[in-house]
Amino acid sequence: MDLRDEIRRVHEEAVSRITDAASSAELEQVRVDYLGRKGQLTAILRGVADLPPADRPGVGKLANEVQERLRAAIEQRAGEVAEEERRLRLAAEALDVTLPGRHQRIGHRHPLTQVFEEMKSIFVGMGFEVVDGPEVEYYRYNFEALNYPEEHPAMDEQDSFYVADGVLLRTQTSPMQIRIMESRKPPLRIIAPGKVYRREAVSVRLSHTFHQLEGYAVDRDITFADLKGTLALFVHEFFGRDTGIQFRADFFPFTEPSADYSVSCGLCGASGCAVCKHTGWLEIGGCGMIHPNVLRNCGYDPEEVSGWAFGLGVDRIAMRRYGIDDIRLLVDNDMRFLEQF
Ligand code: DAH
Repeated sequence: MDLRDEIRRVHEEAVSRITDAASSAELEQVRVDYLGRKGQLTAILRGVADLPPADRPGVGKLANEVQERLRAAIEQRAGEVAEEERRLRLAAEALDVTLPGRHQRIGHRHPLTQVFEEMKSIFVGMGFEVVDGPEVEYYRYNFEALNYPEEHPAMDEQDSFYVADGVLLRTQTSPMQIRIMESRKPPLRIIAPGKVYRREAVSVRLSHTFHQLEGYAVDRDITFADLKGTLALFVHEFFGRDTGIQFRADFFPFTEPSADYSVSCGLCGASGCAVCKHTGWLEIGGCGMIHPNVLRNCGYDPEEVSGWAFGLGVDRIAMRRYGIDDIRLLVDNDMRFLEQF
């Protein structure tokens, strides 16, 4: 074949590849294939020297012209490709400033956690130590060592969730009295906050899962007056100085004498409303002097030491604090409710 035809073929082929090149990388490959050191046109130009002298000027001129045209075509196409690449990049990076922002939900502590924290800090300020205990508890700690008589209705399966024989979900935080006293010597000033469980039909005032804060002190010469002073101080710190506190005789197997205590209703200022069942008072817990049998069960001598204990209903306290009239809201985890605190 005439070398001129070969040059024209290479020219045509190169031009069509230049036109088709869609990226700078592709275009660079075309340049290398034809104009590079080992490129097709470069090879032809090198071969010109071997031609018969008469053919050299004509073929050489044509090859040089084609080389120039390909360079120019590549340069022009490079500009177009770069422009196209820029356009695509900008489109990919485009930011629509008219779109609404993405809302980040900021979390916070559950109202019960907030109440627990505040209660703990008040008692720690009075010198109490915070202890934690298991929610799955032995029957022995939950009832027996707390001096419950054999036939007490609270021990009936009706009121408790049993996990195994002799093992249940604790119905109160009071077993934390036994657990600590059994393993330590007085003096003790302990609070034990936590979850408790009972087989209750759920209502506005009752839930199967609720929260208590147990507190007790054991030492020589501990009296009921210390107990009243401690609870009054707590109520005044937590609810405010003008909050009334009232003690009434009650019964618990593990205390003697026993009492329950109420605070004046914050909603009606003790004049009576639906929340306090028109009594003006809200019961928030039980208390009493630790029964000698309980002290004995823990290896203490009731002739030497005495103690008092109280249990605070934390859900009731949270409801009183925030004016919540349905205990179920505290365990439902409905964000529309929780976000308000
Ligand atoms: N454990 C009792 C309950 O759940 C509350 C209670 C009453 C706790 C008197 C005490 C106490 O420590 O002395 O109903």
